[in-house]
Amino acid sequence: TLLSLIFIISAYLLGSISSAILICRLFRLPDPRKYGSLNPGATNVLRSGNKVAAGLVLFFDMLKGALPVWVAWYFNMTPFYLGLIAIAACLGHIYPIFFHFQGGKGVATAFGALLTIGFDLGASIVASWLLSLAVTGYSSAAAIFTALFAPIYTLIFKAQYTLPVAMLSCLIILRHYDNIMRLLRGEESKIWRKNKKR
Ligand code: G3P
Repeated sequence: TLLSLIFIISAYLLGSISSAILICRLFRLPDPRKYGSLNPGATNVLRSGNKVAAGLVLFFDMLKGALPVWVAWYFNMTPFYLGLIAIAACLGHIYPIFFHFQGGKGVATAFGALLTIGFDLGASIVASWLLSLAVTGYSSAAAIFTALFAPIYTLIFKAQYTLPVAMLSCLIILRHYDNIMRLLRGEESKIWRKNKKR
């Protein structure tokens, strides 16, 4: 329907607003695309040393996923469309129309969308991320493990979302290709370690 198309496009446009780039400008921090992992996301902004900025990036990136899904749910959209809206928000974050299609990795935005789809689903996913982070110390490894487990949680809690969540997981894992290579080479930086400017 026309309404669902409007929702999907709006979710993509909202996702395209890079919290990391804008908050770093606001805080007069260096551009997150120029240091550390070069990724405009909360993890890399944390490497600037500014925890408040990183927290705000996490919050707003999650909001970009949560808000469109919540509004669409309020408008009684079906699970099929809620899934597409979640994917659209993450695609906006990863391939932002406002930033030369070079965005982040979609982890926080997916968290926000999935927390809205179901608190049981979202909470188990966030818990997996925190646990994987505590065990490995790598934000990227935590995201990859969580993406692998997410479709299983979806099957348990919200089976009708398994296909869109599995698609999101694939997208997020593919987007972590550089991280996977760094992890294999032992060159990935732990979340609490600051990175020097490149
Ligand atoms: O959310 C992105 C995270 O999984 C990896 O970030 O900066 O270490 O590539 P980064």
